[in-house]
Amino acid sequence: MAQVAAQGSLVVLGLGSVGRRLGRLVSSASHPGLGAPAGGGGHPASLSVAGVADSSTVVYSSSGSLPPDSLEALVQRKESSSPEGNLAELAEHHSLSVASTDSLPQLVQSHGDLCGCVVADCTASLASLDVLCESLRNGGAVALANKKHVGGSLEHYQSLVDAEAEGGGFGGRLRFESACGAGTPMVVSAQRLGLGNDRVHSIVGSLSGTLGVVCDALNNGTPLADAVEFAHWHGLTEPDPRDDLGGEDVHRKALVLARAVGVPLRPEDVTIEPLYPEKLEGGELCASEFISKLRNEHNDFQEQLAERAKKASGPLKYVANIDCVRRKGEVSLQEVTPQSPLGSLSGAANLVQFSTDMHGDTPLAVQGAGAGAGVTASGVLADAVEASRCVSAHFSSNSSINDDGNCSWNGSERHRVEERATSSSR
Ligand SMILES: NC(=O)c1ccc[n+]([C@@H]2O[C@H](COP(=O)([O-])OP(=O)(O)OC[C@H]3O[C@@H](n4cnc5c(N)ncnc54)[C@H](OP(=O)(O)O)[C@@H]3O)[C@@H](O)[C@H]2O)c1
Repeated sequence: MAQVAAQGSLVVLGLGSVGRRLGRLVSSASHPGLGAPAGGGGHPASLSVAGVADSSTVVYSSSGSLPPDSLEALVQRKESSSPEGNLAELAEHHSLSVASTDSLPQLVQSHGDLCGCVVADCTASLASLDVLCESLRNGGAVALANKKHVGGSLEHYQSLVDAEAEGGGFGGRLRFESACGAGTPMVVSAQRLGLGNDRVHSIVGSLSGTLGVVCDALNNGTPLADAVEFAHWHGLTEPDPRDDLGGEDVHRKALVLARAVGVPLRPEDVTIEPLYPEKLEGGELCASEFISKLRNEHNDFQEQLAERAKKASGPLKYVANIDCVRRKGEVSLQEVTPQSPLGSLSGAANLVQFSTDMHGDTPLAVQGAGAGAGVTASGVLADAVEASRCVSAHFSSNSSINDDGNCSWNGSERHRVEERATSSSR
């Protein structure tokens, strides 16, 4: 029989720079407002980490909360880049439960301490979709830093939306603020426009900190290879800089924002202009190989870009431009007006502007840090706290709280979850 965990349990998927930061943020945070869901009611609760997972192993506590010293030890173990398998060994030492990451969908469906939790996806993997959907279907919630599900195929995005609806309740359990703008509240701003029935005409944004820095350098007359090298040495590029320069990341963020305002674009609705020569596509290249090839074998591409920057009457920026009325868009290098908000943007900062009926001549602008593990983790945490309130509100209308703080569902909700747990174990 499925029992439902106390609200406020978090399972952190991914212990890279963002997931580790999230674990530590939760340990050090207090959330006095967590037990007071918007609209009143709900049960007092605090957010705690019930489990963590990397690509192979999930470690969780049968009490629904990992002791702080155990959580810190797990985070440190991943920080030290120890070989795979060590999470399990460490878990044993701390008397914690261990399972394969592949078994997580079953665990959040039927394990009393994980059922109804918030799953925070801090991976960059498509493999997490099943556990996210399972959590939503079971009345739990998800908070995403991973943009692959909400900024990739429309079917993946829709499967999350459908899973949340299937789970019932009041919604608000699917959250993805940190999938765009690293936690700068762009997604919630987009969603509020829809809630207020304000028609969005266009979304225009500079959504990559890395490309912001590269474009600044190009505008100052720096050749592309030197600009990429500068960004790389400041830790601002992916190990393969083509992952930034190719525009895929900005493309995903543009889709996230379009979907958040209620325009469900498909990837092919938005074209991409990559910021590197076509001949450098394919195969494996580390940063230094890529930079050297760009510098020595593709000087023509660099010269064209330099010429473009020189002739432009305003700065060049790598811009996402979505026409919400015609339902199409592009992500590309564009010349912008120097005095405009985009033209004034510098460094790794991100900015998005929504032109709408109600905002008229003054588009709604949201600006902030566009990258960084800290700001991203903080955005995930804020999402998790709010999502947890929604779970709490949902459960409070369908459950009662036991003396030990665990929540037992009543009526049809309980029956529905138990049915699912039973059928999955058949
Ligand atoms: N860093 C930023 O500034 C920033 C900003 C905005 C958004 N993001 C997004 O946040 C996410 C995390 O970024 P990061 O820099 O922390 O990545 P990262 O350092 O590459 O870490 C990814 C983690 O995910 C784990 N993982 C992979 N597949 C998994 C699965 N199926 N289940 C559970 N764990 C799995 C990996 O496990 P192993 O250790 O076993 O490989 C690793 O611990 C990415 O989607 C990124 O795009 C990052």
